Amino acid sequence: MKKIIVTATALVAAAAFTLTGCSSERGGDTGGGTSTEASKGFAADATIGVALPDKTSENWVLAGQLFTDGLEKAGFKADVQYAPASNTVAEQQNQIQAMVTGGAKVIIIGAKDGKQLATQVEDAQSKGVTVIAYDRLIENTKAVDYYVAFDNFKVGELQGQALLDGLKERSGHDAPWNIELFSGSPDDANSKVFFDGAMSVLKPEIEKGDLKVVSGQTEIAQTATDGWKAENAQRRMDSLLTSSYGTETLDGVLSPNDTLARAIITSVQGAGKPVPVVTGQDSEVESVKSIMEGIQYSTINKDTTLLVEQSIKMVQQLQKGEKVDVNDTESYDNGVKVVPAFLLKPIIVTKANAAEAYANVPSLLEIVKSYQ
Ligand code: BGC
Repeated sequence: MKKIIVTATALVAAAAFTLTGCSSERGGDTGGGTSTEASKGFAADATIGVALPDKTSENWVLAGQLFTDGLEKAGFKADVQYAPASNTVAEQQNQIQAMVTGGAKVIIIGAKDGKQLATQVEDAQSKGVTVIAYDRLIENTKAVDYYVAFDNFKVGELQGQALLDGLKERSGHDAPWNIELFSGSPDDANSKVFFDGAMSVLKPEIEKGDLKVVSGQTEIAQTATDGWKAENAQRRMDSLLTSSYGTETLDGVLSPNDTLARAIITSVQGAGKPVPVVTGQDSEVESVKSIMEGIQYSTINKDTTLLVEQSIKMVQQLQKGEKVDVNDTESYDNGVKVVPAFLLKPIIVTKANAAEAYANVPSLLEIVKSYQ
């Protein structure tokens, strides 16, 4: 994958450009995007299934509501289901199976565990259902027609770059800086992509000696956070502080999302230590407030409204039997096929650019303005 580091301003511009349905800097597609073969179409009031994972972050909660409202507004019957917090994988498998039996024409899936849905999506596809992987890729099966997501590798790159920028800005000293690394849940295909994106920026600095991972834990398996659960990140941070930061100062932490960022900050504060530079993702309300208060350093704006809109646009194109817009046909190999994708551009957010970054997200802009 290409390494692209762009400024926040360029990203805002690029996000707007993406909305026009054009452009991808990844996969060498610099033209007007590509479309896939047209399908036969189906009834304008067909049922569309949406299977979402458990509510591990605000974006999943919001997506459910937006899908219900948006699909119904577009004339479809929406069948939106969440997998419950326990026994999630089996429950999501059952939900998808029930959507197929219930006659859904398209099933949009935010996978709980993208490696465990092959049987269900293969059955769906054999019955003529189109399968769209939403936000998280479904792996090791040919039965995924499309992928719609924010560019996950770029999310990681932006997090890595933000960590470096934050260290320069806030640590009060030059390199070397002491850092620790956290990654997401191993059952989520995104976790590795986020981590690889971040490490594409951080690894050269670690090798140069400008960044020092004091615990020595630099492998994804060592840094993982099961289930994306805050308590697991907090526990790991507690133990890292005890084992590696008795005398050393912790300058920065790579956190893959906001829920975990806040857990890491809670752990450091609980230990009575200064808050390091901590990255995040998702623009959760509590993290946006924390950033404006100068505590958490950064987050990522992945506007769920845009992602749901793009997914519904795909459904409408399928319904009419039109070709479906994609803008990346190279980056998302799920193990057996490269899944045609429509990727949206994530935007890095720090206190410095928050007003600009949330210019199109009224609820967050209001929070930012209340601090200015
Ligand atoms: C999403 C992130 C989210 C995480 C935990 C990932 O798949 O891309 O936005 O923070 O899941 O819910």
